Amino acid sequence: MNLSDARPVSCPPITWPKEGVSRVPYQVYTDPELYAAEQEQLFRGEIWQFLGFDIEVPKVGDFKTAWIGDTPVILVRSSEDGFSALVNRCAHRGATLCFEPQGHRREFSCVYHNWSYSLTGELKSVAFHRGVHGVGGMPKDFNFGDHDLRRLRVETLCGLVFATFSDTVAPLQNYLGEKMCAHLRRVFARPVRILGSYSQMLNNNWKLYMENVKDSYHASLLHLFLTTFKLNRLSMQGGLTLDESGGHHISFSKMSTDLAGGTDYESGRLRAQQDDFRLRDPRLLGSWPEFDDGITHAIQSLFPNMVVQQIQNAFAVRVLVPRGVERCELFWTLFGFAEDTPEQHRTRLRLANLVGPAGLISMEDGIVGNFVQRAIGERPTGKAVLEMGGRTVESQESRVSEASVRGFWQCYRRHMGL
Ligand code: FES
Ligand SMILES: [Fe+2]
Repeated sequence: MNLSDARPVSCPPITWPKEGVSRVPYQVYTDPELYAAEQEQLFRGEIWQFLGFDIEVPKVGDFKTAWIGDTPVILVRSSEDGFSALVNRCAHRGATLCFEPQGHRREFSCVYHNWSYSLTGELKSVAFHRGVHGVGGMPKDFNFGDHDLRRLRVETLCGLVFATFSDTVAPLQNYLGEKMCAHLRRVFARPVRILGSYSQMLNNNWKLYMENVKDSYHASLLHLFLTTFKLNRLSMQGGLTLDESGGHHISFSKMSTDLAGGTDYESGRLRAQQDDFRLRDPRLLGSWPEFDDGITHAIQSLFPNMVVQQIQNAFAVRVLVPRGVERCELFWTLFGFAEDTPEQHRTRLRLANLVGPAGLISMEDGIVGNFVQRAIGERPTGKAVLEMGGRTVESQESRVSEASVRGFWQCYRRHMGL
């Protein structure tokens, strides 16, 4: 499908500024019609969505529930080596089938009128299908095969299970591109061990959070903890890698390469410069070299709403679920590796204090989107400026750049026909 031809009649009258992706009209964070169009064209359109790790559903019948945009989905291991992704909505009258985050079923049975489905979503039985004592029941020509659960396309990569509503989107690895797949293979080269999961509500449009993730410029300015303890500064070696669509990105840096001399950090002109603080217990930041490449921080985003995080030895996958125009829910799954020693496991748990809703680093990311949302108002007319690092969409050797944010908008506009 040519995405530029895909604009639906319902798409709102947003005129993109003539400057292109170096401007973003604030209306994209507030428009209810655009939100509805995103559900149809983006989330139920030409994207792949991460649903979970294969090890979260190890046995046949194990399931977890997830979301693709506002559509509830069940990921289930439906055979020894196969997964099904099913819309979590009964084909009878639309009731939710599975309420739990995770569980085990031999079949999916609806509590409302007891219609039952196989693990691959086929309708298997309908209560009182033949009526009672030969009276009532379904019409003679009722065809079970017409009332299966909606099944999605599923593919896996490195133990990560993705699904899509689209029959036409490219296979997963083509959708991600070679650079993004290579980074996933780097992170997920070893069997994973799940450490825990949680979610947090953000009072902002979902795209404001995705911009924040792709914005390497803000990290050492907004997050005082990072610069105070010299964990991540723009004076470290690093860069931005974008895929061809611009929608996916990797931001990376090497902590051992910090040469801050002569920068704004050393001149003390930044709010983020706090030289007089020391941690009483330095174990909070204890770490070891995880990879041979020297990269200590790597944030990867996969369009539209997934993040793979390496902050020293703290790893997580995050998935963002829109919950209305001005709200979204961020799901975190923290992980280590099966081969971790007990000490490495403890270190990862300690480092987990850096991230999450109360994380020493990421706490501010939970509110800064709302700082924008509350300032632009309900019917905004202004626009954001994205000129750091130029006006183009390309990989860069500097992280003093908004190139990956511009890349997000380039990809978004193509999907949305804006
Ligand atoms: S809504 Fe599920 S059986 Fe009626
Ligand atoms: Fe941040």
